[in-house]
Amino acid sequence: MPLSLITGATAGLGRALAVALDDAGHDLVLDGRDPARLDELRADLPRATVIGGDVTDPEHRQALVDAVGGRGLDLLVHNASTLGRSPLPHLAQLDHTTLRAVLEVNLVAPHALTTAVLDQLQRAGGTVLTLSSDAAVEHYESWGGYGASKAALDHLAGTLGAEHPGLRVYAVDPGDMRTAMHQAAFPNEDISARPLPEDLAVPGILALLRDRPDSGRYRAAELIAESEVRA
Ligand SMILES: NC(=O)c1ccc[n+]([C@@H]2O[C@H](COP(=O)([O-])OP(=O)(O)OC[C@H]3O[C@@H](n4cnc5c(N)ncnc54)[C@H](OP(=O)(O)O)[C@@H]3O)[C@@H](O)[C@H]2O)c1
Repeated sequence: MPLSLITGATAGLGRALAVALDDAGHDLVLDGRDPARLDELRADLPRATVIGGDVTDPEHRQALVDAVGGRGLDLLVHNASTLGRSPLPHLAQLDHTTLRAVLEVNLVAPHALTTAVLDQLQRAGGTVLTLSSDAAVEHYESWGGYGASKAALDHLAGTLGAEHPGLRVYAVDPGDMRTAMHQAAFPNEDISARPLPEDLAVPGILALLRDRPDSGRYRAAELIAESEVRA
């Protein structure tokens, strides 16, 4: 069975991807912080190893590494992420405590966790998948802190791919999704018409994992379109 580790699997895209990979027979190591949602996840995915904790906490990351153990790790998904503040502030109002917290979750924790399981990833010839955003490449007002963290994460993923040709390293922009994070980014908007993670992002990621193209940055919408052309 492939072994996959997904951070931030109690809600949104992380949860939807965990359910899809569980269906596909993956052994899963999952995390998140909210105790009630962690209990629900354990009930829904009884085969998975679900560990409560914050990705910025080194002891929690060590618990994830211990759960992987000496096995080869086929897939590591850096999904846990934060916007920092809602509503999102313009750069002039972005305080450094918030900016540091965003970078800790969105950039430093993924780097730390990746390096901690690099041996296990190499043993499996595995895949590292980081969740990007259009805010990593566009300059939307008020998205500067979060966008900078995702741009830096994209850079980290690209360099990791160059340094480890035996791995696949993907940065994936999932597109807009109807989740708690998206609602927090647009607190006064009705987001009910946005697709759920299951509609587009999860099928796009599954197509990427199936086809295993070269390491690089991909958009879920393009991955779906390309896999439809091939079908
Ligand atoms: N939604 C969008 O439109 C959109 C667009 C572009 C990119 N993205 C990216 O896609 C990914 C998934 O987004 P989403 O919308 O599904 O987010 P979400 O609904 O806010 O879910 C985030 C998940 O991460 C967990 N999490 C957050 N901070 C954590 C931490 N410090 N330690 C451990 N777990 C943590 C949350 O659970 P707990 O609260 O239980 O910890 C939850 O399970 C993110 O990387 C996001 O940046 C989203």
